[in-house]
Amino acid sequence: MTKQLAIGMFQGGRVRDTWKIPGREHEPNFTDLDYWLDLARKCEAAGVDFLFFADSYGYPTMDSSIIPTAIERNVQFTTVDPHTLISALAAVTTKLGLVTTTSTMVEAPPAVTRQYRSLDHFSKGRVGWNIVTGSAQAASALLFGEPLMPHDDRYAKAAEHVDLSLRFWEGCWESDALVKDAAAGVWADPNKVHEIEYEGTYFSTKGVLVTPPSPQVTPVLFQAGASAPGRELAARYAEAVFLAAESTALAAQIADIRRQAVEFGRGSDAVKCLIAGTFRVADSMAEAQAQHQAAIDRISLEQAATLYAYFTGLDLLSFDLDRPIPASAANGDNGRTNIERFLGPDAPTVREVLEEFRANGVMGKPFLGTPEEIANQAEAMIAATDADGFLVQPEADGSHDAFFTRVMPELRRRGLLKDDLPGDTLREHLFGEGAVHLPESHPGAAYRRTPSLV
Ligand SMILES: Cc1cc2nc3c(=O)[nH]c(=O)nc-3n(C[C@H](O)[C@H](O)[C@H](O)COP(=O)(O)O)c2cc1C
Repeated sequence: MTKQLAIGMFQGGRVRDTWKIPGREHEPNFTDLDYWLDLARKCEAAGVDFLFFADSYGYPTMDSSIIPTAIERNVQFTTVDPHTLISALAAVTTKLGLVTTTSTMVEAPPAVTRQYRSLDHFSKGRVGWNIVTGSAQAASALLFGEPLMPHDDRYAKAAEHVDLSLRFWEGCWESDALVKDAAAGVWADPNKVHEIEYEGTYFSTKGVLVTPPSPQVTPVLFQAGASAPGRELAARYAEAVFLAAESTALAAQIADIRRQAVEFGRGSDAVKCLIAGTFRVADSMAEAQAQHQAAIDRISLEQAATLYAYFTGLDLLSFDLDRPIPASAANGDNGRTNIERFLGPDAPTVREVLEEFRANGVMGKPFLGTPEEIANQAEAMIAATDADGFLVQPEADGSHDAFFTRVMPELRRRGLLKDDLPGDTLREHLFGEGAVHLPESHPGAAYRRTPSLV
């Protein structure tokens, strides 16, 4: 049977290049709520599983200061807080999943669990949390006045964060704790709301989550960050993971996540592996390639280096351009995915890495051509990597219109998309009708006090 793909649409709180389009220089967009409402309505009409908002407090820094190019060219810089958008988007949609990122480095579990639970209520069970240790951690640490924590310690902290968050979501309220018995004057049963007591390395707590259970109880758990400890975190806890690289690297990452998920007792299909990609659709391959080249030509090498610095903390322009990135660079304390990606026996030169970032950023090779050609490439990518779907980058104008109107019908014609999204919650969209809550094989289920929830 043909595998039916999960499709998410990618956005940051940033609309990157629309202001460069002649005639649209003064168009309010990313600070205008209507812009986002319109986008959410279009995603819903197209029938995609979810809309995802990337987020980070970080921006490109070097030697403890923001890189001027980041400000001047808007490289991973200006943004709004996507968490504040989700309620508004939930109000104008009924099916669309709504996913955003919160780093485990910034807010502690009591804040994160209360916020996502509230959003899960307001959206009637359509919310997902993308768990990251965070890009541009050097900037974030400076901003919050904290020392930069070593890379692998950040992942240890992330695992503890998720574990404690699951205790709050699954273990605090029994499903029938909220009584609302007006005659007896009882709001909730004190015997069924349990204090969480926890003493860990990074977090300790004694208290309750004050928001009662939402439709999904725990939001759908996403993860991004494909370094070795990132993949372990995904295999242990994530229900979906965002990955971006070339197909051989992707195949290895996905195989590793599935293998570890089995070791954690979750099964090889417990984690939906979604490939982030750029799709440039046109009437011919030549036209699509010309569009792609025009996009590359708009980006200077300096901008590409600034983008690379955002993800890795490394200044590529300070290295020998004709040699590979030194292997020792991966021992630093910034994000590792985009350093490890370019190491090894066939490592490209620094110049080639810069060109790759200029052309494709973190996304790997784009899908190019007519709708048929793009669907062929997408099918081949799924076959080569065993992925479960795609996270689709916006087009140059910030929209996803060409993907919706041209690529999706072709994928649908081939039976690669669901005819209707199953269920009304995000977890059901991804795992099928009735799969509203975490499955029994997920570690969060162990904290449940009411097995009847499943
Ligand atoms: C498609 C995709 C989306 C991502 N979204 C975010 C995000 O919203 N915020 C963030 O801080 N990191 C995001 N990341 C992950 C970072 O790029 C980075 O890899 C990670 O936070 C650091 O972990 P690492 O050391 O394992 O690379 C994303 C990665 C991918 C591939």
